[in-house]
Amino acid sequence: MRAIVLHGSPRKGMNSDTLAGEFLRGLAETGAHEVKHFYLNEMSVRPCQGCLSCASSPSHRCAIDDDMGLIYEAYRDAGLIVWASPMYWGYITAQMKAVQDRMEALAWEGFDGKTFAVLLTYRHHYESAANMFRRIAPHFHIDLHMVSCRTYDPEMRLDIPIEACAAELREAYALGRRLGAGAG
Ligand SMILES: Cc1cc2nc3c(=O)[nH]c(=O)nc-3n(C[C@H](O)[C@H](O)[C@H](O)COP(=O)(O)O)c2cc1C
Repeated sequence: MRAIVLHGSPRKGMNSDTLAGEFLRGLAETGAHEVKHFYLNEMSVRPCQGCLSCASSPSHRCAIDDDMGLIYEAYRDAGLIVWASPMYWGYITAQMKAVQDRMEALAWEGFDGKTFAVLLTYRHHYESAANMFRRIAPHFHIDLHMVSCRTYDPEMRLDIPIEACAAELREAYALGRRLGAGAG
C-alpha cells in the first residue's frame, strides 16, 4: 500500500506526530508500505485563490504552481491518506487547511477508494474538525477512520505529555495494523 502522511502541526515530533508515529508503527507491522511524509509547515503551499480554474479547465489542474504539486502527485498513487493535526481554534491548523482547500482540484476526479486516517490531538474539543470529515466521507465515498487524543488535564489545567495517553496511542497503533492488513 502507498500512504501519504500530512503533518499539520508546526511542532515537529510532538503530539500529533507521535500519534501518527504509533499509527505508522502498526501499519509497518503488516508488511512493507511506501510512506511519504509531508511536513506542511516546512512547505510552501499558498491558500486557494478561489479562481475555480480547477473546475473549468479540462485537466482540472490547480492554477497555482507551488509545493502543493508534490502532494497532488503523491496523492494520486496513494490509497491511504493520513491527516495528523492538532486542533487550532476548533479546527485543523492553517497549514493543513490550506492543503485541504487546494484539494478542491482533486475533488473533480473524486476520492473514491481512498482511505482517510484522521489523527487529531486537542485540549478541549475536536468535534468541529471531526464533523467536517464525517460529513464529506459518504459524499466522496471515503473510507474514514479517526483517532482523537486529548492532551490536557482539565482538572489540573495542565497539558499532559502524549506519552501518557496510552489508550489513544494503542488505538492509533491498532488502527494502523487494521488498515495495513486491509481489514478496513
Ligand atoms: C494556536 C493554538 C490554538 C489551539 N486551539 C485549540 C482549540 O481550539 N481546541 C483545542 O482543543 N485545543 C487547541 N489547542 C491545543 C492543541 O490542539 C493541543 O495542544 C495539541 O495536542 C498540540 O498538538 P501538537 O503537539 O501536534 O502541535 C491550540 C493550540 C494552539 C497553539
